[in-house]
Formats: sequence, C-alpha cells, structure tokens
Amino acid sequence: MALQPKPHIADIQPVTHGGINFCGTAGGEERIAAPFGLAMTRVTKDGPAMKGLKGADSGEERIAAPFGLAMTRVKKDGPAMTGLKGADSDEERIAAPFGLAMTRVKGARKRAHLKERPYIRTDCIDILDFSTCCNPYGPPPSVSKALAKANIALYPDPDCREFINLLSDKIGAAKENLIATNGSTELLRLAALAYTGHGDTVVIPSPTYGEYELASQIAAATVAKYQMKERAGFRFAAGDFISFAQKHSPAAIFICNPNNPTGQYLGFSDIRKIVSSFPDTLVVLDEAYVSFTLDAWDSLELLHYPNILIVRSMTKDFALAGLRLGYGIASREIINILKKIRPPWNVNSAAQQAGIAALNSPGHLKKCNALINKGKDYLIAQLGSLGYRVLPTDANFSLVRVGKAATFQSRLLDRGFLVRDCSSFGLPAYIRIAPRRMQDCLKLIAAIKSVRGEVK
Ligand SMILES: Cc1ncc(COP(=O)(O)O)c(C=O)c1O
Repeated sequence: MALQPKPHIADIQPVTHGGINFCGTAGGEERIAAPFGLAMTRVTKDGPAMKGLKGADSGEERIAAPFGLAMTRVKKDGPAMTGLKGADSDEERIAAPFGLAMTRVKGARKRAHLKERPYIRTDCIDILDFSTCCNPYGPPPSVSKALAKANIALYPDPDCREFINLLSDKIGAAKENLIATNGSTELLRLAALAYTGHGDTVVIPSPTYGEYELASQIAAATVAKYQMKERAGFRFAAGDFISFAQKHSPAAIFICNPNNPTGQYLGFSDIRKIVSSFPDTLVVLDEAYVSFTLDAWDSLELLHYPNILIVRSMTKDFALAGLRLGYGIASREIINILKKIRPPWNVNSAAQQAGIAALNSPGHLKKCNALINKGKDYLIAQLGSLGYRVLPTDANFSLVRVGKAATFQSRLLDRGFLVRDCSSFGLPAYIRIAPRRMQDCLKLIAAIKSVRGEVK
C-alpha cells in the first residue's frame, strides 16, 4: 500500500484566513484580483513564474509582469486589440495597452469559487486591504535599517538571544520565561503538540481565530467549542464557560483576548478565574491584538500560575507580518518544553533584527495607535449611521453585520476594497474591518454607500 499520512492528518481542512481568489484559471495558474472585477494571472506550475510563463492557451502568449504575475497577449484571430479571443466561457478579455489583455471574470462563477481558493496577494495590486488587522502605518522606520544588518548567509541565533534579552528588559519578564517564534501561529502549534494529543479534548470558544482548532487537530486532539451566542452579542460569560469546560476535562484551553473577530476583551478577574479553575490544563492566552487595546491590563501578573502560556505577535502592532515574529511568556517549565520541540533556527535573522529595532521604537506604536483609533472611530460612527450593526470592540477591528457577507465583500472588491468575509468564522452575515489611513477610510465608506443597496 502507498504511504499514507495519519488518518487525523489526512482529514484536516486548512483554516481560511481571508482574502479572495478568482476562478477561471488553467491548471498551474492562479488568478489575482485587481480592481473593477479584473484579474491578473500568476503562473504557478512548471518552474519559476517568470521563466517560460506556461499556461497560455494556444493563440496567446503570456507576458511577464512584476511579482510573478503575467498578462496575456492575444496573437491569433485578428488584431490583438479586437475580439480578444481565448477567454473561458464566463470570462471576458479586456484590452490593455500594447496588445495585452486582462481578464474580467463574470459574476456567478467568480463568486461561486470564493470559498475554494480563498487567498489573494494585495501587496502587488491596487487594492485597499481592510481585511487584515495589521498596523496600516507600517513598521517603524528603523526596521528597514535593521534589515540591512541581518546576515542571511549565516544561520540565525537559534535562541534569539539579543532579541530575548531586550524583550526581557522591555516587558519585565525573565528571559527564562520567554520564547521567540516564527509568528505566533508557530507557537500555537507548538503548544498544541506539546500539551495535547490523541484522546485529549481542547476547549475553544467560538467564534474565534481558526488556528486553535487546526493546531489541536494536528495534534490529534478533539475540539469542544463553547458557542458564544449572536443574540447575546457574542458575549463571553466566564462562569458559563468554566462550567462548559469542566464537563470536558480539557488538556488545553485557548482564549483570544481581545477576541478575533468579535473584539471582546476579557478582564483580569475572568482570565484569572479560568486559569485557576483548571490547574492541570494549559491555558493559552492569545494577546495578538492587545497592543491596540486601550487600557489593557498586564497579563504578566498571571505568570505565577504554572499553567498559563501568554502568546503575543509582533506582526500586527509592528507590521512585521511578512517577516513572521511572535513570542511566548510562561513558566520556565513550559518554555523549556516548547524549546525542545521548536524547529531549529525557527526565527530568521531578518526577523530577529527587525524585532530588536521594533522593540527599540515604542513611540512608533503610540503614534500609530492614536491615528488607528481615529480611523476606527470614524468607521464605527459612519457604519452605524448607515444602519449597520457594529459590535462593540476593544481591538483594532470591528465585526459588522451586513447581510450576505460574501456578496458584500465581492461588491466591494469590484470597487477595489477588500474586507474580511467572516463566513469561515461561521458568521456568513458578518464582515470584519480594520482601519487604514483616514483618507482610505473615507474612500471605503463612500464605496460602502454605493454597494449598500445591492446587498441585503
Ligand atoms: C488572534 C490571532 N492570533 C494569532 C495570529 C497569528 O499571527 P502571527 O502568526 O502573524 O503572529 C493571528 C493572525 O491573524 C490572529 O488573528
């Protein structure tokens, strides 16, 4: 019999992280969204995208464009600029200068495929991305200089000592209580692998960040979800949650604070109650967005509990998403276990240097947070006055009830704006929006006004 993965691994479905894709591609291609319902093609198979540019139909020629993208030159059937043959049945080729063509993918089929291939790169095309919740003002300027210092010819320090020493000074935790990871997502996986497995149950509130469930499934654990009710505004009630969790004797509990996507932020006493109620359970407290929370309490005060793992990300607040950097704070015992199973050199040299520069620029975040909050307040007020239900939030993003979220997202994408369709959180009537610069927030509201009548 051919080699088979473990059954629990074969059954796992990847988490949908937002974004959107366009259909109508040949094998080995990927359509990239561009404004106004247009798409460019990324040639993914048959070697590097910029060489060969396979995948064009006969009578077409793919032309390299920056970032691994390709445009199509239509060669056959008359002059290139008329007719524009070669599109699939529900596509339309649009003339572009120099005999090139872009593809418009028509309504039904484009939207039908949204769930299947849910990712786009928004860095190489002209789309305003309100779907990711990173600092829209970018990393501190010192980060680019720091990147130049990274020696990529050498293996990075596997213990990230310079970064960890500085982090220890900045947040006031001993370095033995710290671990750096390749984004906080890696840490979530390490925690699940180290502390849960076959026969164990992991308790997770819902809706929340999908990676907790995936990490638990990878570890072969069973997930029990504590459902937060829409009619109660998705409120997390700690007492109720504890009673639910007690029925499952969980090996681990994941709590996102503030919660993605609801924005609810639990207080110190709620978290302490949970941590102290389950002394034999690993309680993972994910604070990926806590830097954006006004008047956040200090979770390090819970560090004397031997069963808490605080998870933080530097990809959101310091806008290092492309570099991947996160860290964990926990008892020495937990940290030592996580270090045993982390991949060697898990944090690359550039991320280590960028992290050091970011920690040395605390003023940047303060300045950005003031602007981010203005954008957030503006969006909340405008959406409210347009009649949308916006959930109260203590994070840098808002959950908004719009009716059919997939359609709403698609209509906005046609106008060059990307918002997060929350269907993958089990919330098909909601989108999540994180503010960008004020001038972009103004444009988004104008676009929402123009799609409002189209989506119920
Ligand atoms: C709640 C939460 N935790 C963790 C992460 C992962 O962040 P990263 O791996 O970039 O640190 C995300 C990313 O969206 C998130 O929403």
